[in-house]
Amino acid sequence: MDQTIHPRLTLLSHPLVQHKLTIMRRRETPTGEFRALAREISMLMAYELTRDLPVEAVPIDTPLEPMMAPTIAGKKLCIVSILRAGDGIASGMLDLVPSARVGHVGLYRDPVTQRPVEYYLKLPDDVAERLVIVVDPMLATGHSAAAALSRLRAAGCANLRFACLLAAPEGLAVLAQAHPDVPVFTCAVDRALDEHAYIRPGLGDAGDRLFGTK
Ligand code: URA
Repeated sequence: MDQTIHPRLTLLSHPLVQHKLTIMRRRETPTGEFRALAREISMLMAYELTRDLPVEAVPIDTPLEPMMAPTIAGKKLCIVSILRAGDGIASGMLDLVPSARVGHVGLYRDPVTQRPVEYYLKLPDDVAERLVIVVDPMLATGHSAAAALSRLRAAGCANLRFACLLAAPEGLAVLAQAHPDVPVFTCAVDRALDEHAYIRPGLGDAGDRLFGTK
């Protein structure tokens, strides 16, 4: 992977992820299948994102004898969804990590300044003590992702990751500049943004395709 675009970029190159992503990209893939695939890929992403979680041995009894067995140590995850399309990713991650807490950030683009403005924020009280995975299927301009990460830092979060299905080089450059220490996980880095800030070749509007609103 081209680490010159972002110093902490992980590309999920697993054939199953790539195959599912290709079906999602197809124009003719219907809403239900698109949503199910987003959920499946997100589950696989969560597997990769949590690969280095600390574990500790605890005493348990199997039906045959006592043993020390590994469990995840400490407070677990918080998934923070950037509304609204992030919810399509969060739901798949929750399939794998059902005890994770979930936060939401709502941002809209100011039509004059083009900068993201926060209109909604709800986070668990103990978010600063958790590994926080910020999710949005499309890293396009990167401004919403950068703003969400800044907001979480302001809330005291020190252990942050960002996950998306598709990234544009422009968005990765913005995150590399604003939050170079935050690892980014994506399934593909596409060619470029177009003049409407859509990722090309992309998969279209992820929110509309997830929720069937167009
Ligand atoms: N958001 C989307 O849903 N699609 C894009 O291509 C870019 C941003």
